[in-house]
Parts: sequence; structure tokens; C-alpha cells
Amino acid sequence: MVEDARPANESAPPRAAVGFLRGLSGKLLLLTIVFVMLAEVLIFVPSVANMRIRWLEDRLNTVAAAAVVVDGLQNIELPRAVQRETLMATGTKAIVIRRKDASRMIATVDMPPAIDGEYDIANFTALGAIRDAFDTLLFGGKRVMRVYGPLGESDATIELVMKDGSLRNAMLVYSRNVFLLSIVISLITAALIFLAINRMLIVPIKRLTASMQEFSDEPSSPERVLVPPKGGDELAVAGQHLASMQRELQKTLKQQKSLAELGLAVSKINHDMRNILSSAQLISDRLSDVDDPVVKRFAPTLLRTIDRAVGYTQEVLSYGRTAEAEPRRRFVALRPLVQDVGELLAVDRQSGIEFDVQIRDDIMVDADGEQLFRVVHNICRNAVQALTNHQPEDGRPRMISVSAVRTGSVVTISIEDTGPGMPAKARENLFTAFRGSARSGGTGLGLAIARELVLAHGGTIALVEKPTPGTLFRIELPDRPVRLDAFRAKGRS
Ligand SMILES: Nc1ncnc2c1ncn2[C@@H]1O[C@H](COP(=O)(O)OP(=O)(O)O)[C@@H](O)[C@H]1O
Ligand SMILES: [Mg+2]
Repeated sequence: MVEDARPANESAPPRAAVGFLRGLSGKLLLLTIVFVMLAEVLIFVPSVANMRIRWLEDRLNTVAAAAVVVDGLQNIELPRAVQRETLMATGTKAIVIRRKDASRMIATVDMPPAIDGEYDIANFTALGAIRDAFDTLLFGGKRVMRVYGPLGESDATIELVMKDGSLRNAMLVYSRNVFLLSIVISLITAALIFLAINRMLIVPIKRLTASMQEFSDEPSSPERVLVPPKGGDELAVAGQHLASMQRELQKTLKQQKSLAELGLAVSKINHDMRNILSSAQLISDRLSDVDDPVVKRFAPTLLRTIDRAVGYTQEVLSYGRTAEAEPRRRFVALRPLVQDVGELLAVDRQSGIEFDVQIRDDIMVDADGEQLFRVVHNICRNAVQALTNHQPEDGRPRMISVSAVRTGSVVTISIEDTGPGMPAKARENLFTAFRGSARSGGTGLGLAIARELVLAHGGTIALVEKPTPGTLFRIELPDRPVRLDAFRAKGRS
């Protein structure tokens, strides 16, 4: 019984054993690495530009030291060999010192090359420096640049012309180092973050998931209930809630199991009882033939009592089939169905109750014919029971009228009687099984079953207030929604 209450296997959630990279921890690790690398790139851009400026400054300073010495020798022309050595040592093509009044060429190669770019070390913008740095990195190596900056503290400028090859090489080495360092840093950071989050989040989450799985595998076993985690963080609270939910569920399951067992026992007893009553019914039928006046007086009462008992067991049995079968819906003509109900209840003029059917022949209901019959039968039988032994005060006939209209895709069925109306006691628990009955010998199942069947059709049933005495039930039954693909397939074939 308990197994029945659990959801079918296809709706079971997937197990938590997923691949590392699809699990939370794997994703987390990858994301951390990516984010740290991204941060490193953001840091790299300005830092490589800065490195280039520093490198050029260094070079200018080195050259300046030599140049100042040479400059101090006043107007002595440097021999060619010395010039070349000076230039070679600093990797430059030409060195010039400019003062306000005059400039002096300290050294130069024989054929000064054409200049590809000029850079002022003392005046630059951040964006300009970044742009120049990437320009050198991407396209440099073979170009000639002129670089100038202040000569120490003096107001003179030192200027040199050089190839950018060695600058670019230095920048490449720097970039490679930064890259390697980034990898190391991101790995370390990722590992640290991973460990921290794994401990704080993933492990508790995994414990929760595992507990849910174990519990759903065997919900009735008490040792499968999660031991509530201590602590006050969100996951601990979730764990505590889960544990109490599992305990509650276990209690409900236990109750349900005993209820189901009880129900089974009742329906077995009921079934046998019905057979016994049926034989009693058969035998007592013969009593009517006996001539004894005492027997003649009591026989009808006895018969009625047994009839009622049979009806009682019948209803309980049909309710005991707890879940009604899915309605097998097709379009059924409503009028003959209602007339059949009238015949089964044997209401006709002779019985003193009028059965009036106001339904056009062409009204079709999209419903399970057998179930709809039971709905109408249950309601009409109640009406018959209410009308028997009741005489409407205002002289109206004792009458049950059933009418129906179709509005678009909904059929509305109204079942009305001129009886005494719904007693307050029945109103309180209307449509509630075993509670709604307000007459002796009633089970309170008829309306509950009717409602269950109507709901299974996606419809509604309600007791409607009306101005005249009596009872009015209204049932609304919608057609099934049309499945577009099925409709098209039908059209094609
Ligand atoms: N048409 C009606 N007129 C008056 N009372 C009604 C009518 N239909 C239902 N009832 C009241 O509602 C109660 C519940 O009905 P139902 O669920 O069929 O249970 P049962 O017929 O076994 O008592 C009835 O006992 C009766 O008192
Ligand atoms: Mg009834």
C-alpha cells in the first residue's frame, strides 16, 4: 500500500552522482580559474605599459651618464672608434644633448636611419602609453624610435635614436613571466576558494542530497532520517527543516498505511456482508407470499431495511475503489443518458414524482458515459429520496427537472427538484465523504463520489441557491482540449 503512494519511477529526480565537471565543485573550480585569469589580464595591460616606460627611462639614464661625461670634454670631437663603442654599449644609433641655446651630437652611426616613431618619456597619457606598449608588442621589433627625456635635474634634454628590438624582447619576457605567474596565482587562489567553498557549501549540500535519496529509497525506515546538522547557517537550517519534514512524512506514511489496511479490511467485510444480505433479500422476498397477517405486516419493512443495507454496502464498496478509473471520454448524447437514470429510479407519474427532461437531442457531452451516469444518478436519487414523503406547500407538483445547455465547449447540466431543500447539516459537509449525510441510513458518499467523478473530467459541481424551495445542483463539464497535432493527423488521413 505504501509503495502505491510513492510517485512513479519516471518522475523520480536524477541521482546526484554527476561527473566532476558537471557537479557544482567542478564548475566552481573552472569559474575561479577563469575569473582570476581575467583579473590578471586586467592587471597586465597597464603594467606592461608601465614596464615599457621604465625600461626606456633606464636606457635614457644609462646613456645620459655616458653622454654627460663626453659632453664634459667640451669641444673635442670623439674619435669614430670611441663613438661606435659608446653606441654599441648602449645599443643606440645616435645620442644628442639639447640645451636651450645649442644641441650637441654626442655620437652617431655613419648613416642615421629614418625614424618610425617619437616618444617623450616625461609627457605621456596612460591610454597613450598602453597603446604604444601594444603597438611595440604586436608590430615592433624592426622599427627605429626616437626617445627623449630630461637630462637629470638640468633643463637639458637627452635624446637617443634606437632600434626597438631589445625593448620588444624585454617586453616579451616580461609578458611571459606575468602569464606564468598568473597561472600559478590563479591555481593557488582557485584551490583555496575551492577548498573553502567545498567545505562550507558543497559537502553539506551533498549530505542533504544523499539524505533525500536514501530517504526516498526507503521512506519508512527511521534510520534514513537525516541527523539534523548543528549550526545556524542557511544550509544547517535547511538540513534541520529537511529532517523534521522527513519525520513528519514518516508519521503520515505510517498513518496512511494503517488507514489503508483498515480500508482493505472494511471493504472485505463489506463485500461478504453484501453477499449475506443478498441471500437475506432473496429469502425475505418469499415472505410476501406467506398468508400470516403478522408476517404480512412486517414483511415490507423488513424488505425495505434489507434493501437499504444492500444499498449501503454497495456505495461503500464503490467508494472503496479509492482511485476512480481515469474517465474514458467520448461524445455521448445526454438526453438518453438522463432518461435512463429516470427509468432506473422508476420515477414516473404513477410514483407521484414527475421527471422532466429539458435537453435537446443534439446536446453531446465529452465524458465517460458510465461515470456521468453515476453522477446524474446519485444526484437524482437524492432528489427522489428528498421528495418521497414530502409535499410541496405551494401546491407545485413533486418534480425533478434536468436541463442542459452547451455554451462553446462547456456543457452545463442543472438538476432541480421541488423538495424541502438541502438541510443545514448536509450543507456543512457537502461533498465530504461519510460526513455529508443528513438522513438516517445515508452514507454521505453519493455527492462525494459525484464530485470526484466531475473533477476527474476537469469540471465543477455546485449547489446553487434558488428563489423557490427545493434544491438545484449545477454541473459544468468542459470538452477535452483539442490536441493540435492529433487534429492535423486526422485531417491528413
Ligand atoms: N435534492 C436534495 N434535497 C434535499 N436534501 C438533499 C438533496 N440531495 C442531497 N441532500 C442531502 O444531502 C445529504 C448527502 O447526500 P449524499 O452525499 O448523497 O449522501 P446520502 O444520500 O448517503 O445521505 C443527504 O443525506 C441529504 O440530506
Ligand atoms: Mg445519496
